[in-house]
Amino acid sequence: MEVLKDGPDPVLFYYNQRLACCGPTFPRRACLAMEDRILVTGGAGFIGSNFILQQMQAPSCSILNLDKLTYAGNLRNLVSVAENPRYRFVQGDIGDRALVSSLLRDYRPNAIVHFAAESHVDRSIRGPEEFIQTNINGTFALVDESRAYWSALSGEERDAFRFLHVSTDEVYGSLGAEDPPFSEMTRYAPNSPYAASKAASDHLVRAYHHTYGLPTLTTNCSNNYGRFQFPEKLMPLMILNARDRKPLPVYGDGKNVRDWLYVEDHCEAIATVLRRGRVGQTYNIGGWNEKHNLEIVETICDLVDKLAPRAGASRRHLITFVKDRPGHDRRYAMDARKIQRELGWRPKETLESGLRKTVRWYLENEEWVADVTSGSYRQWIATHYSG
Ligand code: NAD
Ligand code: TYD
Repeated sequence: MEVLKDGPDPVLFYYNQRLACCGPTFPRRACLAMEDRILVTGGAGFIGSNFILQQMQAPSCSILNLDKLTYAGNLRNLVSVAENPRYRFVQGDIGDRALVSSLLRDYRPNAIVHFAAESHVDRSIRGPEEFIQTNINGTFALVDESRAYWSALSGEERDAFRFLHVSTDEVYGSLGAEDPPFSEMTRYAPNSPYAASKAASDHLVRAYHHTYGLPTLTTNCSNNYGRFQFPEKLMPLMILNARDRKPLPVYGDGKNVRDWLYVEDHCEAIATVLRRGRVGQTYNIGGWNEKHNLEIVETICDLVDKLAPRAGASRRHLITFVKDRPGHDRRYAMDARKIQRELGWRPKETLESGLRKTVRWYLENEEWVADVTSGSYRQWIATHYSG
């Protein structure tokens, strides 16, 4: 569909009828050659919003953010770019093919960075349906519409186009204490409904490259932490409970191991793969920071004690061992040597410095916290931790 130069814009008319569409009309296509035009899905979530804020610092970058705004999406994360003419937000579902197709036709991105997903393992155990819907069916709709869009491009536009799929280390399953870390060659063995749904989406993206030649890239990353993470995940949950002197619920024996990466390092890795990654390849991203959960929670207690001192015992006394997560993966660890060797990326933040920044951010951003911890969040906490 051509965007009209005069008169009402049919595509925007369509959005306005069906969606909450923020900001002025899309820039005209004349800008294309000078810009990086990225369609980001799930950009109101934790990693997506960090990615958008980081990328928007480059004056040549324009972003269209397509997000359904589930409980995990929060436009508050993006207030600093909301009025920027290089940024647009559209509320919508990646599974809505008519919407995706018209956005692609009108916005004409030269890259898609696909974050949108249901992302919490515990929720996938309680209700897998939404994970199948968004992570599998939604990714299918998005990648299929992307193929149709890309197939119609020609010349430089076609050569430059990339579809980057953001995935997780959880697709590889669980490691024993002595096993080597996951590499890009490790066999997939997803254990939770979340991991299985992400594995399925990875396979779809792989197949679209192999069969149709769609220029895809896939990144599989370890556990992220940093600002804007919804406090159902380990670190923000523990920081806020420690702040409020509530019990700190550690699953099982607390000896499950995760590899932690500061979110801004992850975003830089994604940008690096997007710009320099080899088409069709998969890159593992990790922080080289394997820690068991108890050690993480104890460190958080000590930091909260230091940054928000109160009379009384150390927060470590709040640690409470609770019933284990069903099928709880014992250990994840990432071998991130390929991305370092081929693209020169490695994490900058240490766990110590990143964790200090993160604890400080949650303690200083009370409004953000109050906003996300009302309503359905309270209901989730009450149901999930009731035993
Ligand atoms: P998140 O749950 O914080 O955010 C997900 C975002 O996707 C939200 O803004 C939500 O509104 C949006 N969304 C959900 N369903 C949608 C749909 N059908 N259509 C459009 N938007 C939809 O997730 P996150 O932690 O930022 O993770 C982003 C991506 O990174 C996910 O694909 C996840 O699997 C992957 N990942 C996350 C981690 C981590 O530690 N958080 C690690 C590795 C990979
Ligand atoms: P989480 O942040 O949910 O990420 P993931 O399951 O994707 O790794 O959990 C990180 C680890 O912390 C995981 O081993 C489960 C554990 N955990 C707890 O012990 N207590 C909790 O309340 C939560 C949310 C997680």
